[in-house]
Amino acid sequence: MSEPVKGTERSRELQAEAMEAQHEVLDRLMRSIAERAAAGAPKPELSHLLQQLESQTAHHFQEEEQYMADLAHPKLDTHRIIHRELLAMLQRHRSDFEAGTGRAGPNLLGFIKYFLGAHLQGMDRHLAQYSRSLRRPSSGLRRANLPTSR
Ligand SMILES: [Fe+2]
Ligand SMILES: [Fe+2]
Repeated sequence: MSEPVKGTERSRELQAEAMEAQHEVLDRLMRSIAERAAAGAPKPELSHLLQQLESQTAHHFQEEEQYMADLAHPKLDTHRIIHRELLAMLQRHRSDFEAGTGRAGPNLLGFIKYFLGAHLQGMDRHLAQYSRSLRRPSSGLRRANLPTSR
């Protein structure tokens, strides 16, 4: 009967690792877009990178929301609204790009860095800290509001 606690902690750890790995993929994609745009890469190449960014972001947001639901995270609703907004903005920027000459302008690059990038490095990092704060090796009780004793 105590098994589910261990199992839950282990699966939370695996989920946290998966989130981290997805953040790295998104981070690499965002950096490639900035670098290739600065190097004057052709439209089809940037278009492909932006498509990948959009689909990986959509996939990541979905998994992260599931992860938050599993943690019973109190800010899930707000986080979900922010994800929806960010994804809609990314889609708009991408369709503007597709309709244009193929130059990734400051609006697109700024959005990626200061909105999408900032979310992944800000709110999502707090999420990882929250998830770590739930771990308590000696029992299944949550330690979120307890002082740490080692
Ligand atoms: Fe995330
Ligand atoms: Fe997020």
